[in-house]
Amino acid sequence: MKRTLLSLFLASTLLTAHADEGMWMLTDLQKQNEVAMTELGLLIPIHEVYNPDGISLKDAVVHFGRGCTGEVISAEGLVLTNHHCGYGSIQQLSSVEHDYLTDGFWAMSREEELPCKGLTITYIDQIMDVTDYVEQQLQIDEDPHGTNYLSPKYLSKVCDRFLSEQGLVLEDGHTAELKAFYGGNRYYLFLKTTYSDIRMVGAPPSSIGKFGADTDNWMWTRHTGDFSLFRIYADRDGKPAKYSADNVPLKVKKHLTISLSGYKKEDFTFVMGFPGRNWRYMISDEVEERMETTNFMRHHVRDARQRVLMEQMLKDDAVRIHYASKYASSANYWKNAIGMNEGLVRLRVLDTKRKQQEELLERGRQTGDSSYQQAFNQIRHIVTQRRSALYHQQAIQEALVTALDFMAIPSTAALTKALKEKDKAKIAEETEKLKKAADRYFASIPHPEVERLVGKEMMRTYMQYIPREERIGICQVIESRFKGDSDKFIDACFDYSIFGSRENFDKFIAKPKLYKLNSDWMVLFKYSITDGLMKTAITMSQYNKSYNAAHKTWVRGMMELKQSKGQPIYPDANSTLRLTYGTVQPYSPADGIDYEYYTTLKGVMEKEDPDNWEFVVPEKLKQLYRTKNYGRYALPNGEMPVNFIVNTDNTGGNSGSPVFNAKGQLIGTGFDRNYEGLTGDIAFRPSSQRAICVDIRYTLFIIEKYAGAKHIIDELTIE
Ligand code: ARG
Ligand code: ASP
Repeated sequence: MKRTLLSLFLASTLLTAHADEGMWMLTDLQKQNEVAMTELGLLIPIHEVYNPDGISLKDAVVHFGRGCTGEVISAEGLVLTNHHCGYGSIQQLSSVEHDYLTDGFWAMSREEELPCKGLTITYIDQIMDVTDYVEQQLQIDEDPHGTNYLSPKYLSKVCDRFLSEQGLVLEDGHTAELKAFYGGNRYYLFLKTTYSDIRMVGAPPSSIGKFGADTDNWMWTRHTGDFSLFRIYADRDGKPAKYSADNVPLKVKKHLTISLSGYKKEDFTFVMGFPGRNWRYMISDEVEERMETTNFMRHHVRDARQRVLMEQMLKDDAVRIHYASKYASSANYWKNAIGMNEGLVRLRVLDTKRKQQEELLERGRQTGDSSYQQAFNQIRHIVTQRRSALYHQQAIQEALVTALDFMAIPSTAALTKALKEKDKAKIAEETEKLKKAADRYFASIPHPEVERLVGKEMMRTYMQYIPREERIGICQVIESRFKGDSDKFIDACFDYSIFGSRENFDKFIAKPKLYKLNSDWMVLFKYSITDGLMKTAITMSQYNKSYNAAHKTWVRGMMELKQSKGQPIYPDANSTLRLTYGTVQPYSPADGIDYEYYTTLKGVMEKEDPDNWEFVVPEKLKQLYRTKNYGRYALPNGEMPVNFIVNTDNTGGNSGSPVFNAKGQLIGTGFDRNYEGLTGDIAFRPSSQRAICVDIRYTLFIIEKYAGAKHIIDELTIE
């Protein structure tokens, strides 16, 4: 008896050791994962999840915008995603009069659904393994730099060639993309359909959709109703079309069935979505590099910018709405960088990495294959050499590019040239062009006073981290003309540059003068930033020349190592469609602390703080809580579930992903991960890494009881 128990225990730990790690390619599921998934609890055949020759769950999973996932939940093109994924659109449609960020938005009829400029939704129609074809082409094509195998430009040429050989013609709205996987050891081609008439259907107020905001971001326990609803519109034939009042809701091939039965601890789940990037094949030196460059800059530079922005946002609603989305995206990976660095140290991830790489090096020694050792040595060497260029590049990128909206000034090069050549007709033409560009520029900078404050803070921060001799060129001017006082320099930008204010520009453009352009502070500043970026990029590319080849060899080694142990393999995330599976699991982040695997509305009330904007609870929600008016969405014990956690392998880009139960029914929407698991992008840690999901019952409760949008519920398929 004891023996069987022991072997059962061993078998199950072996299984769970592999179950949760992996962002699997759908094309490999049947071969690699079906058995393990079924053993862990999957109740449907894998071809209902992914079927290259027919309709499956995959056909209801869409790429939302450029960086998120969504799922189709009605026959008429209704798409569920996260509030933070719809945030950019909600913000764009908001004004001080119609503040959908604060108040939420619910279309009570189709006519009220709001078109979202620039938003797209993309279906993946077909996935093809074209590794053999690409390798053949690589043999045929000339490749003087030896970089073709990873070059998007080259791969897109090969893609076109492949399509024409197959006699495939792409209609409007259809595209093909050929991408490298496993560092260029494999290639897949994706046929896609992109819809660009997307309309906003519903969004809760931020006090629900963003409840807990940055304090709770990347944290469990969690109580956020992080969802929003959109609809795909198409022309009358169901074809992708740009916005038109005549377009109609898309009649979809597949939409998901929703289950209200919930989940228990240990229940099987799987998630499909578009994870963006992770770095499981990095060597330990690269992890250290990441900590000390990218993560360091994200932490410290964003810290400084966000402090300035938040102070201004809290003072003025127009400022708050304008910067809301920019602030959120900055804050998101600011906290991620802090948490990842903390975790890398606390969990001794470098040791884990060293152990992994030692295993591969040892295998190389045993099999007499020195290529891994060579690749390893090369990567280490490259990392040491590119270090200071990368550090500087990150500083410029964070402090002077991403942070400074006012540096998006229009180009004055053409007008400068015309003035130099004294070509009257050309001067007149370029003057008109610049006027238009300036109109767009000033419209995009409605709060120059905030930009001025951010500019000062960022310049000081940049100079704090980059030694004098290495700084971008404009810093010498700051030394000589402004006695090293960068605040005075930024003041000069806004006081005297032609783009410093509308008045300055109008004065200049009435009579454009060459000397003014040549000595314009903002124009000079912008040139200097561009120049600095270019210099760091050139230095980096010199050192990086042999990086890709070494990385490819290293990844090949890791693939072979796993396969030699009979383990399945998966490539690093690259914004392509993946599946990850696991179970509903609580966790224990530290000695003496045990976390439950779900939260309820009671916790929202416990966190309530009317004096802190991050934790305000809307009155209506409090009423529903007091009267326990949860309808059919309540738990058997009468509580309202809010969020839950699973041990699937998610990363940024998975937000909005459908979370399925064993029968392939929708039970939630992934939106975040836990703080203790943030090192997962580098090395998966099954014991402490969790994906955080909105319970579908909370989503439907908010739609029906809070928003009174029963017509949306009526569209859904609920079991
Ligand atoms: N951390 C989650 C993800 O990476 C949610 C982000 C929501 N944004 C925020 N700043 N709170 O996207
Ligand atoms: N919140 C992330 C996203 O937006 C998801 C994650 O990193 O787990 O994709």
